[in-house]
Amino acid sequence: MNQDELKKAVAQAALDYIRPHLDQDSIIGVGTGSTANCFIDLLANVRNDFDGAVASSDATAERLKSHGIPVYDLNSAAPLEFYVDGADETNEHLELIKGGGGALTREKIVAAVSKTFICIADESKLVGILGEFPLPVEVVPMARSYVGREIVKLGGDPVYREGFITDNGNIIIDIHNLDISRPIQVEEKLNNIVGIVTNGLFARRPADLLLLGTADGVKSISRQDG
Ligand code: A5P
Repeated sequence: MNQDELKKAVAQAALDYIRPHLDQDSIIGVGTGSTANCFIDLLANVRNDFDGAVASSDATAERLKSHGIPVYDLNSAAPLEFYVDGADETNEHLELIKGGGGALTREKIVAAVSKTFICIADESKLVGILGEFPLPVEVVPMARSYVGREIVKLGGDPVYREGFITDNGNIIIDIHNLDISRPIQVEEKLNNIVGIVTNGLFARRPADLLLLGTADGVKSISRQDG
């Protein structure tokens, strides 16, 4: 299977997992990115089985709506039973790097209010130690230089994502070469830097279930196994 087929396979596996739990009141948290898009397209086939969705980005909201799936404000929908989203990297403990698409803040919020976070990814995303993928952080624009200097103090190389504005009106700095062998500690250090709205480490709230697309089929890895 090629990478696209693996993405479709994990999206189908996520739908198979949640479908028995859906009813007319169900509101599903939906993530952002190409793998999440596969999931959205499959959701369209069962749209009468649930009420609607909460989107982690404007792009996801638009795609959901294009399929006729109602999109709810999180404030009127939380808590959510399920959140389904991709990742840029995952380790075996289901700690993630997210934000390659710049949607990390809303993704982290939706993950926080969801009982079960299902991460869908192809096997290229599974790594031993997080950090080969540059870690995105969303930053209030006026804090860009300050945050950059603080990141250097932590040992990372900050790279401003040129020409990109998040759905929240902020900028993204991608951190290269950061030691993320202790993800929770790094996440907390970054959380303490004034001007960073959100960092893309999902370690304090990792995924609960990883559906990993491999050449041998979809592997199901739950957090308890890690
Ligand atoms: C979006 O901001 C990211 O967190 C995505 O979840 C991540 O980039 C995965 O995207 P793909 O499924 O396109 O690889």
